[in-house]
Amino acid sequence: MPASLTRPGKPDRLMSVYHLATRPFAALVARTKIPATEPIDRDLALIVASSDRVAEDVVSLRLESADGSPLPRWYPGAHLDLVLPSGRQRQYSLCGDPADHSSYRIAVRRIADGGGGSVEIHDSMPEGTALTARGPRNGFPFAYPHLARADISRVAFIAAGIGITAIWPMVAAAAAAGVDWHLTYLGRTEDTMAFLDEIIGLDPSRVRIHTGPRLDTEDLLAGVDARTSVYFCGPSALLHDVRVAVEHRATAGFHFERFSPAPVLGGRAFQLRLDRTQHTVAVAPDESALTAVRGTLPEVAYSCQQGFCGTCRVRVLAGEVDRRGHSTFGEDPDSMLICVDRAASETLTLDL
Ligand code: FES
Repeated sequence: MPASLTRPGKPDRLMSVYHLATRPFAALVARTKIPATEPIDRDLALIVASSDRVAEDVVSLRLESADGSPLPRWYPGAHLDLVLPSGRQRQYSLCGDPADHSSYRIAVRRIADGGGGSVEIHDSMPEGTALTARGPRNGFPFAYPHLARADISRVAFIAAGIGITAIWPMVAAAAAAGVDWHLTYLGRTEDTMAFLDEIIGLDPSRVRIHTGPRLDTEDLLAGVDARTSVYFCGPSALLHDVRVAVEHRATAGFHFERFSPAPVLGGRAFQLRLDRTQHTVAVAPDESALTAVRGTLPEVAYSCQQGFCGTCRVRVLAGEVDRRGHSTFGEDPDSMLICVDRAASETLTLDL
């Protein structure tokens, strides 16, 4: 158990220093416009400066630029698109200190039966590994400066599992800015929860750690009122329940990021003809085209699985696309994002 859990009410000295040190950042945040969500396509050559186990099945990587130059700045909620040595592309939230331009920190949970990206990071990327990154991009900005002007009095953060990586920099920024904040951090067990000591040490009176059976949404949203802004990052099923609950109460805004694909709603079955490899793939009503294609072509490229990064975009040779992505890629009539787009016709032929 983290030492600070045994001393409730007593802030960690290290984090008190961190709190003081990040005040200038808070002032910067308060003066800074929230950046728009836009692709940043520069390539950054990075190396793994360190890889540390920070919880059960979770490693934290510190990434530095390969030539030692300062890294581009980022804001809480931002992520990096990493191109791993295998060529896989994956997205990870930045969870370090935005004021540190010498390194980025990410944390990755090992998913043994996932697409292979997390296993590669855990098993095959020791210190010194070179990789490429794009970004940072921010599709989940922490809007406190705007909310402050709108007379929002409180921010409630909810993070489940590895979702803490997107939320933690926001919490640190809120704390440094003197915002009235509260964090609920959910996990299976404390051993599986990354950065627990660091987080509790920030201000134990504002952090609720919950393990075991899920809290009901009323309990999760306890204290949330019309002047509270809610930030959430966690799995799709929990996000769904929290969204439904939030719709039935007055809040000052609900902001979220999911770390797994959204469930397919209103889908119907269709077929994909893969022209180059000469396969036919059936897509079920409740699965994505990407999931179906991966059953036949496991190395097909993808990253966000949520329709905004463009990694999974493929050329459509025949058929009509039901566009469901929320990116500018949808303006290209000859392509589709196979992680979210579906078929409006019975069959689509793809250049795969
Ligand atoms: S994987 Fe990112 S848009 Fe499909």
